[in-house]
Amino acid sequence: MDSRSWASLFCMLVPFLCNASLVSAGEQVLTLDHSNFTDTVSKHKFIVVEFYAPWCSHCIKLSPEYEKAASILSSHDPPVILAKVDASHEANEELAREFEITGLPTIKIFRNGGKYIQEYRGPRESDGIVAYLEKQVGPASDEIKYMEDAANLIGENKIVIVGIFPEFSGEEFENFTALSEILRSEYAFGHTLDAKLLPRGESLVNRPTVRLLKPFDELFVDFQEFDVDALEKFVEEASAPIVTLFNRDPSNHPFVFKFFNSPNAKAMLVVDFNSEQIDSFKSKFHDIAEHYKGKGISFLMGDIEASQGLFEFFGLKDDQLPLIFIQNSNGQKYLKPNVEPEHIGPWLKEYTDGDLKPFLKSGPIPDSNNEPVKMIVADSLHDMVFSSGKNVLLEFYAPWCEQCKKLAPILDEVAVSFENDADVLIAKLDGSANDIPRDIFEVQGYPTLYFKSASGNVLQYDGKRTKEDIIDFIQKHRYRTAEPDTVKDEL
Ligand SMILES: *[C@@H]1O[C@H](CO)[C@@H](O)[C@H](O)[C@H]1NC(C)=O
Ligand SMILES: *[C@@H]1O[C@H](CO)[C@@H](O)[C@H](O)[C@H]1NC(C)=O
Repeated sequence: MDSRSWASLFCMLVPFLCNASLVSAGEQVLTLDHSNFTDTVSKHKFIVVEFYAPWCSHCIKLSPEYEKAASILSSHDPPVILAKVDASHEANEELAREFEITGLPTIKIFRNGGKYIQEYRGPRESDGIVAYLEKQVGPASDEIKYMEDAANLIGENKIVIVGIFPEFSGEEFENFTALSEILRSEYAFGHTLDAKLLPRGESLVNRPTVRLLKPFDELFVDFQEFDVDALEKFVEEASAPIVTLFNRDPSNHPFVFKFFNSPNAKAMLVVDFNSEQIDSFKSKFHDIAEHYKGKGISFLMGDIEASQGLFEFFGLKDDQLPLIFIQNSNGQKYLKPNVEPEHIGPWLKEYTDGDLKPFLKSGPIPDSNNEPVKMIVADSLHDMVFSSGKNVLLEFYAPWCEQCKKLAPILDEVAVSFENDADVLIAKLDGSANDIPRDIFEVQGYPTLYFKSASGNVLQYDGKRTKEDIIDFIQKHRYRTAEPDTVKDEL
């Protein structure tokens, strides 16, 4: 017996000990690492890469199956190459980060020299792997020749994109094929010469048409431009529900994901889905969303049960429910708490007219503020900093930041030294609980110190974080009113 057979026998007897390296002799799976990954991937039209770790038990279980699949697929036409990268090896850390490997094993499919990357979502045993990859290496779009092809492709619950052509050639067909390659991991594609085979839409089609069929809203949408970018944009928009529902139902979650990835402004209505008003909210919101279609706003309706994360993220509160909330593409937010169904339309009109004031996430204004360093929140920033007429040193901090903890006693001392100087205020703002006006303060990390002089100059402090240096800076940049002693209690 040669060494390879010994290794295979060993693997059969004690599979859990069967480290991949034992079967290395003559194995079909390519081993890649940081030194040759990019080079190898760039040479292949289709290559599959498993990111694994030698100690990961799922990887060990997968290994012989993956190896077997590789050996079956090695004779496939076109060839299907299977490779692996030890993602736990220090030298490959950068690779693992680049491809966002968070769990092991993770298998990815690289197409066209790595231009398109897609997650492998198939089975983990050899026959399943082979079948899945054979399908993946084939064309992304299946021809619909008979009624039953259409029925197989267009199931109940998914989005299917069908190209209808007078012949399977020409630039339109090529562009459709390119589209199907780009989006094949997200949608099912088909192409046909006969629109009558499709269950929905106009059956007499006399020019190339892309028909998107979906299980909701208008059920199908046609498109007749064939620029690849325009096609992609069409699919992106036509596949999104008019109102994305956000609740515990996992079949909605891909749409929620898309909603949050969209570059549009996002209007989110959060309601208790068990409330009596729910139907009225639903129909009103749907009508409004329909009205704003194509105008750069996406609509989501969330059940309070599923929306807790949103609440924390945006600093919303339970007593504001039901609420509608908009975040635009600049990150500005608008809020209407305790909303009724008939408020939504007029409020959205105010939003699009630019008549709404942005909403800032803010901690509560503290009842007492007696420490030397004063606590400022988003809601008190204007009064305490911008219109106070004082020279303010403001620290942006976060509760978990270690450097901020180190700075705290130093700022305390600075504050104490100015305690009898009514023109100087030393303050802090918790950036994790409050929105920071980013147009004024550039806060990339914590702590960040800013100084606003009484005359309105805003400067970032980037000197040494010592009591002396900070005090010197304040003295140098503060604005002195003509009669510093008399201004004290005037306002
Ligand atoms: C990539 O480099 C590693 C380490 O040098 C080597 O073991 C492996 O065989 C190489 N793979 C290819 C496909 O060249
Ligand atoms: C096909 O796509 C390319 C690239 O997007 C575009 O330049 C070309 O005009 C498209 N062809 C047609 C017929 O739309």
